[in-house]
Amino acid sequence: MPEVLSIGGVPATTLAKNFRTPLYVYDQGKIEETIQVFKKNFVSRQFETKILYASKAFQAVEMLNLIADNGLGLDVVSGGELYTALKSRLSPGDIYFHGNNKSYDELNFAFVAGVRHIVVDNSMELEVIATLATAYKQEMEISLRLNVGVEAHTHEYIITSHIDSKFGMAYESAECKKCLERIDSHPYLTLEGFHSHIGSQIFDTTAWYASIDILTGYLRDFPQKLTLNIGGGFGIKYTEKDAPPALDGILQSLVAYVESTGVPIGKLMIEPGRSLVGEAGCTLYTVGYQKETPGKKYYFVDGGMGDNMRPSLYQALYHCDLANKMELKKSETVTIAGKYCESGDILIKEAHLPPASPGDLLVVYATGAYGYSMSSQYNRNAVPGVVFCKDGKAREVIRRQSFEDLIRNEIFTEKNAKPIIPVFETFTIGEVAVNEG
Ligand code: LLP
Repeated sequence: MPEVLSIGGVPATTLAKNFRTPLYVYDQGKIEETIQVFKKNFVSRQFETKILYASKAFQAVEMLNLIADNGLGLDVVSGGELYTALKSRLSPGDIYFHGNNKSYDELNFAFVAGVRHIVVDNSMELEVIATLATAYKQEMEISLRLNVGVEAHTHEYIITSHIDSKFGMAYESAECKKCLERIDSHPYLTLEGFHSHIGSQIFDTTAWYASIDILTGYLRDFPQKLTLNIGGGFGIKYTEKDAPPALDGILQSLVAYVESTGVPIGKLMIEPGRSLVGEAGCTLYTVGYQKETPGKKYYFVDGGMGDNMRPSLYQALYHCDLANKMELKKSETVTIAGKYCESGDILIKEAHLPPASPGDLLVVYATGAYGYSMSSQYNRNAVPGVVFCKDGKAREVIRRQSFEDLIRNEIFTEKNAKPIIPVFETFTIGEVAVNEG
């Protein structure tokens, strides 16, 4: 009997049949469990703690409803993310607005929407906020994003806190002093605290400790108890070779480390993105054609860099299985390539799989963070849908784009012809249905 992978109690073959592929699938229970690990282990007797979900990792209104229902706050970085958040059950007061170049319109939107916390990146931005706060006579709590010069050892492009970074201001710099004075002298602005994000996919706490040392050393000089936000970056397991330390231990040791500095702080915050949704999500593809070159064997799938640009952008590694043939021995080493017109559209360079036939289902694991959120419509491939599975039930939270969606915003002269109706027939090769179109 073929063994079929099940996600949140729903067989992958059922998901492919009902929602077609490629498809982003989340195990909702796993997201909820991870949220509980964060909530249980990020607590202190000395100060308040707060967890903000860094929603850039994966935004969907239903995802943000899970965040709201579990009492977490949210980090947004654009007007679009803020708009999505406001559609959810989150209260505007639980939203923190980040970003290095928030426009006047975006900041104005935040004021009108009732956002109460802004993480300021530079003094020019602070001027716009100061003007808006005066105009609306509305208070705003300001955190300053600081560069503490600590680099977490991870991929170059996702390091964000080195001293020449486009983000934030160097602590103790003239820029920082200028911001502090401006907040101090403004009737509607209050200094909430400081923020620093040292990188992503971090496996060891040393870099965080170094950044906490600098930040708490800095906080010592302030008479009031401030908030310290140490960002996100908790690493996850993408492949068998990744061995991230257990989240509960990391969270406890970060809290303990801040406590051990003895610096009185008001609140400690973190902003996990990837670690909250990454491993809970996977992508289902249908295997299409195959080919052999002198040095390689390719399996082509019906998605690729448009639904997961991380392999092409960061040389990120992933693990996969044949979701409808889980019982078979992995006797092949193949390259999984997508359907996009780019040589770099390779999802997995060296995948170990059983022999596959067209129509088989391929699952790529741990695509839950920065997969859907960084997707594109390159080559006019529609963005796949997103399904949440729990207790054997699947519900679509984002509908797959249609061809009509691809041209929705285009302004053109309709040709005087019969309407074009795309046909999505399903035919069967091997054991499962193959999607057309
Ligand atoms: N807070 C701030 C201020 C950030 O800049 C980020 C991520 C996070 C929190 C969340 O970090 P996480 O816990 O997800 O590592 N597209 C890249 C990741 C870019 C991360 C940018 N900032 C990727 O796919 O790896």
